[in-house]
Amino acid sequence: MSVPYLMEDRREAGRLVAKVDADAWVREYLAPVMPTGAPEVLDVGAGPGHIAQAVCRAWPDSRVVAFDGNPERLAAGSGSADGAALVRRCGDARDLPFEDGVFDVVYSRLMLQYVAERGRAVAEMARVTKPGGVVVLFDLDGQLVWHDPVSPALSAVLDPVVAALRATGFDPHTGRQLYRLAREAGLTDLAVRVDPYHVIAGPIEPAEREQWHLKLDIARPAIARALGSSGAADKAVRIFLDHLDSEDTLTYSVAFTVTGRQKPGARRR
Ligand SMILES: C[S@@+](CC[C@H](N)C(=O)[O-])C[C@H]1O[C@@H](n2cnc3c(N)ncnc32)[C@H](O)[C@@H]1O
Repeated sequence: MSVPYLMEDRREAGRLVAKVDADAWVREYLAPVMPTGAPEVLDVGAGPGHIAQAVCRAWPDSRVVAFDGNPERLAAGSGSADGAALVRRCGDARDLPFEDGVFDVVYSRLMLQYVAERGRAVAEMARVTKPGGVVVLFDLDGQLVWHDPVSPALSAVLDPVVAALRATGFDPHTGRQLYRLAREAGLTDLAVRVDPYHVIAGPIEPAEREQWHLKLDIARPAIARALGSSGAADKAVRIFLDHLDSEDTLTYSVAFTVTGRQKPGARRR
């Protein structure tokens, strides 16, 4: 059984792998917090486990659990890094099937924006982290919603689409919430980093356009439900892609990374 996910589609595993350089991401965002030795690491919302595999490559002595709500997507990425170093587990991030305090590093990349009860998921991530261990939360702010100019045609489709996606639990402003969620989960020594994520000024590059096209195609059933027909969804997707193709367009979003530590004296429940 799968945990409900807005972007559920057989093409989603491939889309996720194609849009990140996993080795570069772990060097940039995990290397600064990775302890020496043989760390136990948990990737929450791992998709096909491409980031977890990069962790295994970068830290060959680590033991990594790739955890996701969809068993097929999780299995789609299995490969040479699997084995003793990488274990795949399926379940719900809001109720992690692990004992308290067992991981040195727990991270989640681009999952929390889809989880309505994201506070519960962050609390679970903190719970399974060892005292003194690290939690890394990485998510977006402004995706889909920050543009200039916003034409009447774009505004007419954007507003109902975003409202409908919100009804599934998706929140385009999750990034800014991560600091508060980390505090509420009792994490300490919090560090906040903000990086540009999508920045499209003028006509979008073909490869990036292809990724947006696929993303919108995967979201199309939810958009059709929001707008009342598949014809209306097709039109909305066309308006959005025309906007990305325009010389006039600026579209952007940012990625927040919040890193926190489980209190060294935290007692296991
Ligand atoms: C956008 S993908 C991110 C995948 C990967 N972390 C990456 O950065 O490419 C979000 C993933 O979170 C998973 N997910 C969403 N809600 C979940 C939940 N409540 N529990 C476990 N996984 C969940 C989805 O199945 C999906 O694979």
